[in-house]
Amino acid sequence: MPVVVDMDGRLVSPREATVSVFDRGFLYGDSVYEVVRTYAFRPFELTRHLERLGRSARRLALTLPWDAARIRAELLRTLEASRGGDPADPPETAPWNAGERSIRIIMTRGAGEVGLDPALAVEPRAIVIAGPLRAPPARAYREGAGCRIVGVRHDAPDAVDTTAKTGAHLSNVLAMKEAREAGAHEALLLDRDGFVTEGASSNVFAVRGGRLETPSLAAGILEGVTRGIVIELAQAEGLPVREAALRPDDLAGADEIFITSTAREILPVTVLDGRAVGSGRVGPCTTRLHASFRRRASGSEEALV
Ligand code: PDD
Repeated sequence: MPVVVDMDGRLVSPREATVSVFDRGFLYGDSVYEVVRTYAFRPFELTRHLERLGRSARRLALTLPWDAARIRAELLRTLEASRGGDPADPPETAPWNAGERSIRIIMTRGAGEVGLDPALAVEPRAIVIAGPLRAPPARAYREGAGCRIVGVRHDAPDAVDTTAKTGAHLSNVLAMKEAREAGAHEALLLDRDGFVTEGASSNVFAVRGGRLETPSLAAGILEGVTRGIVIELAQAEGLPVREAALRPDDLAGADEIFITSTAREILPVTVLDGRAVGSGRVGPCTTRLHASFRRRASGSEEALV
């Protein structure tokens, strides 16, 4: 069964996986989550994801119903139950993604009498969903994808939602709508001062003058697990990295752009706002970093746990 849901420790089918209309995750986005992916059916960088889940929960003063060991155990159990029964892979699935899983961990403050006061919540809920990984097709890695700098602004850096991975995602939803209507794969959001922040569900990097540049965490962006790994890989390869304030013009004039996220890994961006980036083809730094990333993913100790 390819999609399996763990509801508070009970494995159920997607049809049985329902929450109360009084759940605060549903009412207010009062929840935290993580998305983990597998390589060779093993969760990748689970420790970093669980640490971030803990940080997100602390920002919301949300007491997680399970400790990290229990989350890990439930995740592995749900993953195992999702084994087999896969529909045929979509055409052009990148070979390293075939048959892999995406696992979403969701912790909500739970249900209670309707009202903003978190003290109204009776009991937090723990949900784990394991299902087929949805990742860009192989063609997107060969040719690159399009991004759109959208009019929807990124939430202010001190807003809870930006650095914590919470269930409240409305700006990202509207940003994605704007990007898709313009025919782009991903939306890039600016802050109120016009600086680049991140994608609707990704972090963004530019290669300019032989240097890798990306907005700093001070911009109020999500500390992407993939972003962290890419910075480590670049430094290990002697590619200078600068965490810097970037303007749309800096991106428009960049030699290369790519976005990073758990499912996408490192996805080249060859079109920005309808115009070619650099040569218009996938650039050498992006290709090299993605190759290092792929080596790291397939050889990771965590992946062998
Ligand atoms: N999104 N920025 C935002 C706003 C995100 O939602 C994500 C990830 C990232 C990249 O983080 P990571 O490398 O840890 O996946 C950056 C997940 C995958 C999602 O919501 O599906």
